Formats: sequence, structure tokens, C-alpha cells
Amino acid sequence: MMKGSVLMYQVATVALLALACSLAFAYDPSPLQDFCVAVDKYDFVAFVNGKFCKDPKNVKAEDFFFSGLNIATDTSGQLGTNATNVFVDQLPGLNTLGISIARIDYAPYGVNPPHIHPLGTELLIVLEGTLLASFVTSNQADGENRLFTKVLNAGDVYVFPIGLIHFQMNIGKSKAIALASFNSQNPGVITIANAVFGSEPPINPDILTKAFQVDKNLIEYLQKQFGK
Ligand SMILES: *[C@@H]1O[C@H](CO)[C@@H](O)[C@H](O)[C@H]1NC(C)=O
Repeated sequence: MMKGSVLMYQVATVALLALACSLAFAYDPSPLQDFCVAVDKYDFVAFVNGKFCKDPKNVKAEDFFFSGLNIATDTSGQLGTNATNVFVDQLPGLNTLGISIARIDYAPYGVNPPHIHPLGTELLIVLEGTLLASFVTSNQADGENRLFTKVLNAGDVYVFPIGLIHFQMNIGKSKAIALASFNSQNPGVITIANAVFGSEPPINPDILTKAFQVDKNLIEYLQKQFGK
């Protein structure tokens, strides 16, 4: 009797934990077949698993292929960085596989500005140069948001946990190159400044004035900077 109720309690605890875990984490689904090459048109479609899949009979080696991550991109823009994403839109064979990659080029002192990948954790691998890499925790119980920062050189790896604000700066005197891999076929990007100050239509400046506790003129200036 005693033993039975302890067992029942343990089973219930495990079931509750499993439920809590499945509610707390929402990652890309596990594939239900070898692959599901994404297609935009309805012809040659076989079955659905989140997205339409290309009929396996019509799948080619090229569906799993992307070329050009060896090519440096133009970093002469305002930020001094540029990213080449290889997500499901660029490589349809990634569909349902929960993985993707990007190349990031940094001019000296170039900044990859504070941003979030809402759907994936990022592993950053520095190939060349010296980066300062940081991320900030979500709001903690004590009201703090902790900043974690590390200087990275070639061969160093840093992880940015899913959904957290992160950024990098090239603190070296020469260019830097990094690869970023994600546990998502489409990690998504929210660039903080653009999302907050450059939304279309704009967020009411009175709201941002209160939220950021600055003069309204400053908010309007920022909205002009980031507005379309
Ligand atoms: C990034 O690089 C590509 C290729 O060099 C270029 O076409 C594009 O305009 C660049 N984007 C930015 C934001 O500088």
C-alpha cells in the first residue's frame, strides 16, 4: 500500500516534469522521414510535415547544397558587419532538420548589433580575427540582467542561448570572420534597435519615452534614424 502510493507519486512527478519540459521548450520538430526538401509551389508535393515537402522522387543533390560561404561580403556599411545566412530559404534541404549556418564578416571595429534569434541557440566559431562577444540574461528574480562577455580569437567557440540578446564587436585592427551555426532551420533575427525604433507603423513615442526614461526628442530622433 505504502510502496504503491510512493510509486504513483513518482510516476505523477515524472509525468508533470515531462509536461513542464514540453511546454517550456519549443524547438524545430524532429524529422519524420529522411528529409523534407522545402518547396514553395504545390506541384510535385508528396506530404506535409510543417512545410510542404518536395516529392522524394524529384529531389536532387543540389537540394542539399549551398555554395559561397568562402566569399567575403561587403562590410562598408554603417555597422561594419555583414551576414550570409544559409537558412531553409537558402538551402531547402534543411527543412525539418533543425540546423543551419551563417557566415559573418566584420570590418575592424565592426559591430553585429544587439539582436535575438527567437527560434534557435547559436554556436559562434571564430575563423579569423578577434571578437568581443556578449549576451545578456533574461530578467532575473533579483531584477538583474547579467551580461556575459568574452574575447574570442581564431578557433574559439561561444554559445548564445536561444532567445537572449547578444552582440559582437571586432576589437582587432584587421578584419574578422566567424561562422554561426543554429539548432534551427530558420532561427529568425530580431535586431533590437530596428524592432523598437524602426517598426512600421512606429510605436507611439510616448510609450518609448516612458519605457526608456529619456526625453521624447531623443525617442523621435531614434525613430527618424531607424524609420523607413
Ligand atoms: C552584404 O554583402 C553583400 C555582398 O557583398 C552586399 O550585396 C550587401 O549589400 C551587403 N549588405 C550590407 C548590409 O552591407
